[in-house]
Amino acid sequence: LFAAVEMAPRDPILGLNEQFNADTNPAKVNLGVGVYTDANGKLPLLACVKAAEAQLVEAARARGYLPIDGIAAYDKAVQALVFGEGSPLLAEGRVATVQAIGGTGGLKLGADFLKKLNPTAKVLISDPSWENHRALFTNAGFTVDTYPYYDADKQGVNFDGMLAALNSAAAGTVVVLHACCHNPTGYDILPAQWEQVIAAVKARGLVAFLDMAYQGFGDGIQEDGAVIGQFVAAGIDFFVSTSFSKSFSLYGERVGGLSVVCASKDETARVLSQLKITIRTNYSNPPTHGAQIVATVLTTPALRAQWEEELAGMRNRIKKMRGAFVEQLKAAGVTRDFSFITTQRGMFSYSGLTKPQMERLRNEFGVYGVDSGRICVAALNEHNIGYVTQSIAKVI
Ligand code: LMR
Repeated sequence: LFAAVEMAPRDPILGLNEQFNADTNPAKVNLGVGVYTDANGKLPLLACVKAAEAQLVEAARARGYLPIDGIAAYDKAVQALVFGEGSPLLAEGRVATVQAIGGTGGLKLGADFLKKLNPTAKVLISDPSWENHRALFTNAGFTVDTYPYYDADKQGVNFDGMLAALNSAAAGTVVVLHACCHNPTGYDILPAQWEQVIAAVKARGLVAFLDMAYQGFGDGIQEDGAVIGQFVAAGIDFFVSTSFSKSFSLYGERVGGLSVVCASKDETARVLSQLKITIRTNYSNPPTHGAQIVATVLTTPALRAQWEEELAGMRNRIKKMRGAFVEQLKAAGVTRDFSFITTQRGMFSYSGLTKPQMERLRNEFGVYGVDSGRICVAALNEHNIGYVTQSIAKVI
């Protein structure tokens, strides 16, 4: 039966973890996967998460099936976070939100629904984009193409190229956009540029799908979510996937969501009914634990305040590491200007290092980054940054 089955390639990001774990180099550093580790290189268990978990254990409950669309309080909290507490959109009942298995799950639910809605539509992702975007939408049956995004010479965004591609896309094309902290480049577009993107989406009848996996890692929760308000103000229907993997350090709990903005309450009910079929036929209904923690934190004022503080702590530590990274590269004798690292946002830096350089870093020094040159700055700390920058100096 399986004689003709070919060996699939290793996942470009998660596959690195397997290789890293098997590496016996005591100096090894994992800057591959997008995971935040603290100043001591440890994956944090947030105090707000620990407190919420303790509350849940205290009032331990039996685990029945959740509703297909997830915990109601969780979905409501996701909406408040993404669209803003007092958003008229929510009062009008114009957002269908479902709990999803991580941000990836939210993307897949949206992709499956869109495929049913418009089977011939094409998907456009940024060039480059998160490695899994192409695979996920391809697997959902779409033809996936790219719009220009990264400008290597400018060390920024090729915005004219991006806009031109959107302005020539066919009606119904699904455009995957990174709401903030672009993965992998770390370069975001400005609010005024978002306005132009939104105008193109509206004029061409495109379907915007915002991937918001890093809300709070750019400038703050509200600040990073402002782009959603811009889409809402434009009066268009769109998709937003949410992830709490990073912002709650709950990677393994797979806590995410999908929100679909619709034109009316009636439309929302119909969209929600379709999303529920997608969920039911894939995994029936979502798991309890992670979403219960997030809902508890988001709806308990003291825990919510603690979370915001802890998230700010992660954001600020990453920013500090960006500055230190640039300085220590210089100190290690690198003459190339790497100051662009401090203008990038979020967990990643698109370092400009080539695939052979990334391979050398991995094979000779045990410094793991993605072949594209993406480095997870959120995994740098005072103990490993010297070794990392000296290793980079040697491969340049
Ligand atoms: C990443 O880009 O490293 C993260 O989003 C983790 C993942 O699932 O790829």
